[in-house]
Amino acid sequence: MKHKVNFIRTLFFAFVLVFLACDATKPSTAKDPETEAKIDNLLMQMTLEEKIGQMNQLSFWGINDDVKEAVRSGSIGSLLNIIDPKQGNTLQKIAMEESRLGIPLIYGRDVIHGFKTMFPIPLGQAATFNPETIREGAAVAAAEARSAGIHWTFAPMLDISRDGRWGRIAESMGEDPYLTGVMGAAMVRGFQGENLANSTSIAACVKHFFGYGAAEAGKDYNSTNIPPALMRNVYLQGYKAAIEAGAATVMTAFNDNDGVPASGNRFLLCNILRDEWKFDGFVVSDWASIPEMINHGFAANAKEAALRAANAGVDMDMMGMAYPQQLAKLVKEGKVSQTVIDDAVRNILRIKFRMGLFDNPYTDTSAPSVFYAESHLATAKKTAEESVVLLKNANQTLPFTDKVKTLALIGPLADAPHDQMGTWTFDGDKNKTITPLAALQTAYGNNVKVLYEKGLAYSRDLSTAAFAKALQTAHQADVVVAVVGEEAIMSGEAHSLADISLKGAQKALIQELKKAGKPLVMVVMAGRPLTIGDELEAADAVLYAFHPGTMGGPAIADLLFGKAVPSGKLPVTFPKEVGQIPVYYNHNSSGRPANKTETLLYDIPLEASQTSLGNTGYHLDAGFDPLFPFGFGLSYTTFEYSNIRLSDTKIKTFGSIDVTAQLKNTGNYDATEVVQLYVRDITGSIARPVRELKSFKRVVLKAGESQDVTFTLASDDLAFWGIDLKRIVEPGAFKLWVGGNSDATLEADFEIVE
Ligand code: BGC
Repeated sequence: MKHKVNFIRTLFFAFVLVFLACDATKPSTAKDPETEAKIDNLLMQMTLEEKIGQMNQLSFWGINDDVKEAVRSGSIGSLLNIIDPKQGNTLQKIAMEESRLGIPLIYGRDVIHGFKTMFPIPLGQAATFNPETIREGAAVAAAEARSAGIHWTFAPMLDISRDGRWGRIAESMGEDPYLTGVMGAAMVRGFQGENLANSTSIAACVKHFFGYGAAEAGKDYNSTNIPPALMRNVYLQGYKAAIEAGAATVMTAFNDNDGVPASGNRFLLCNILRDEWKFDGFVVSDWASIPEMINHGFAANAKEAALRAANAGVDMDMMGMAYPQQLAKLVKEGKVSQTVIDDAVRNILRIKFRMGLFDNPYTDTSAPSVFYAESHLATAKKTAEESVVLLKNANQTLPFTDKVKTLALIGPLADAPHDQMGTWTFDGDKNKTITPLAALQTAYGNNVKVLYEKGLAYSRDLSTAAFAKALQTAHQADVVVAVVGEEAIMSGEAHSLADISLKGAQKALIQELKKAGKPLVMVVMAGRPLTIGDELEAADAVLYAFHPGTMGGPAIADLLFGKAVPSGKLPVTFPKEVGQIPVYYNHNSSGRPANKTETLLYDIPLEASQTSLGNTGYHLDAGFDPLFPFGFGLSYTTFEYSNIRLSDTKIKTFGSIDVTAQLKNTGNYDATEVVQLYVRDITGSIARPVRELKSFKRVVLKAGESQDVTFTLASDDLAFWGIDLKRIVEPGAFKLWVGGNSDATLEADFEIVE
């Protein structure tokens, strides 16, 4: 009976999927007829086995006879994790000269936030709100990686995340679809350069398509349940923007959404990616995500997994072995059509041609090293500087003035060269990392005595044995800088947390240092937003550095002493308590939104009557608001927003208006402000978020200077996917705000009219 059911099921899939096979042959303006002709010519000569070989990606396991034979026979199209250019050249030579058709291999690697020179983790890069900075950083990463023979990175990751428990939030651009799209597109442009064939370009891979960041409970690989309109209005936006920027490849996600694992989601890969978005690069699975559809309960065995993935439109199997072992049988049985195979191979070869690999397959191993070049380090430092967010600065504790003669530097992250680089650091050398300790000693040591005491051996250290010494050191200094946070291993893939407060005895360390009565600056280096309410209260100033990379130390040192002025803004809402999650600024309004008169737990009178607190939606023990809103970040100067003006209060369908506000630097420092424009569609055919970021600009102002900042807001910026899943611009009333974070108060009203 079971056999029969299986048979009928297979037949059903075969029918549905063969006849609805993904049409990747749709005309694309980017396709070059000459290249397409070359691809067709190759396809005509290729055997089925050679075609399936192109669809097979394995992780490099050393140069030996097996890998050489696999390349020679054409049974591998791509390797990941080969990082020695000499070894890369050896295998490439076999592919070019000894394989029957001389098709080059494409080498991939996770170059996520730098190759050798490590940049801040992507969440930190997002905090710069500076796409040009992101582009420059990705270009540096590309130049370094390509010089090591790497052709292709598995980045940018553009999974929207509203959950700091999820370890991979570190690798994301945060919670906002617009910011994610702008930054993702910039990263793609940086990696790929003007031309994919340049010797300093690498192909980008937009991942993880789709929704991976919405993992339930923030647990990695977990199911997501994103309904269709939310998928369009929030979760797909970032990937789409990066694809429009020309990303060469896309990676499917591990998660199932509403029961359908991404590597078997035909609707996603064919209808959306190919048909709607006209993507003509190739789709790679995530590591073994094809056979993992068996664990999901979506495929009975590897054969069915391969059938589902191929027919869904996954072109390349990363380390799943499902394609090399199952596809030929499936083709012979007529369950996967020759067209599906040809389309997949066409997509892969197209990128190999665009990368110029047929003409320039080898890496020049005699070229001088570009690793850690001065200019690369300078770009990494600038990025780190822009990525740090000033969360508190009571009594202008920062920047330190020349009155500071002795500085106590305490904490497990003050001199942690490995951890400072953050997650996904495969190739960065910790010996090249400059920590805050090293930077303060080198750059400021002549004028300031730096007393260093770790206090805790590492961030999870529970022993308070060294606290007495740390406090003693704090007593001897004019100011105390405590560098706390998370080790690199605590965020990233498969590293989720249920509690996102400071670990080990770090909370106690901050309270202990407070006893010295000296100005206390807390610097946090972490892979996620942490719940730091208590420490925020204890510290006089707080700088938040998402793991800042190789040059994090010099950046932080210059920020502490005012050589640089903070300009970073939070790309993600910071919760007060983990139980507030998911907490994000662009939520919908409930029917009973909380107001500022909420009564908190300890203020409730004894035996208060059931309805005496009012019935609004907030947590009795945390309130409604988060610790910090999205977009938040202070400066050493102050900014004042005023005089908001609209060129018109009505936008016609297909029209636009200009929104202008005056920004004044009212403090004493020349500084940069990220001016943000938010919008609310007051009434829609589906409820719209209370605010949505529509644009932002980094504006540099001298102390005392003012400037008008103008945004153009088009009706198309206000479009959304409605109840019938069509993208619409709906006439009606809107509100907008211009300001320095998502709680901006300077507002104006406008309408969309037909
Ligand atoms: C990750 C991907 C990564 C791939 C290759 C997977 O486990 O989810 O993001 O690119 O491994 O290393």
